[in-house]
Amino acid sequence: MSRPSDPHALDLLINEVQGSAKYKDISPDVVRAVAIQEIGKRRTLKEAVKATKNKLHQVSMAYFNLRADSRDNYVVWLQRLREVRQAGDVEAGKQLNKQIMGHHASTRERLPLLDQFYSTLLADLPPINSVLDLACGLNALALPWFPAMGQITYYGCDIYRPMIDFLNTALEIMGIEGCAEVRDILQSPPMQEVDLALILKTIPCLEQIDRQAGTRLLRTINARYMIVSFPAQSLGGRNKGMLTNYEAHFHQLIEGENWDIRKFEFATELAFVVKKR
Ligand SMILES: C[S@@+](CC[C@H](N)C(=O)[O-])C[C@H]1O[C@@H](n2cnc3c(N)ncnc32)[C@H](O)[C@@H]1O
Repeated sequence: MSRPSDPHALDLLINEVQGSAKYKDISPDVVRAVAIQEIGKRRTLKEAVKATKNKLHQVSMAYFNLRADSRDNYVVWLQRLREVRQAGDVEAGKQLNKQIMGHHASTRERLPLLDQFYSTLLADLPPINSVLDLACGLNALALPWFPAMGQITYYGCDIYRPMIDFLNTALEIMGIEGCAEVRDILQSPPMQEVDLALILKTIPCLEQIDRQAGTRLLRTINARYMIVSFPAQSLGGRNKGMLTNYEAHFHQLIEGENWDIRKFEFATELAFVVKKR
């Protein structure tokens, strides 16, 4: 079929993908980047459309429970968040946040760890006032588990528009300073200076589109500290050897950098606290 240099073929491909209900709300920058890759490898437009959708599914939509993630659900969740906030019941608020986080497959895996995850990883760090959450999923709802949440300005980004709209209103309701944004961190990583960047289970995802993404992102992000994590299991279940492979991969990614690294193993996640010098 036409090569990527044929803008007409590329437009057709992008229009076709964005015309489908499942992919219409994904960042157009990501759709375009994946389409450019796939159009060069496939023989027909049909094949390129299928391959582009498959890749977008793998890197993003596989994590969303689409039926549960409809805009109607976001409206219901926001209503319930307002109710618990008005009632002032902190414990009920945390339970509700957990229920909502259960609708993103990656954020959901962390639910059993929440009571220990951030308190353990942040225990020896100086006070954190700003957090940049890259490819955040629904992780903004985990902020009540951060020590000293009240001091934090939160900035999150991901590529699925309805979730980002939801997060902006949710942050407001929870009384948390900050915002969320639709942003493709492969092509335009955020550049603001922060105390802490969260790069949670994101690198393997980005590397499916760009093999250099992890090494580049870790060096680009302007944070005093980073928490970089990897899944201990695949989306489908346990997977022997993943921890060893990801640990080795992480050390390759940071090769040549004189950063302080501490490793933490949780039941479902391997995490590194990185102090950039
Ligand atoms: C494995 S999940 C991690 C979610 C979250 N960090 C967590 O651990 O709870 C990967 C997330 O990356 C997002 N994503 C994929 N490609 C992206 C890109 N180029 N820019 C920003 N986010 C991206 C997906 O939409 C998905 O929510």
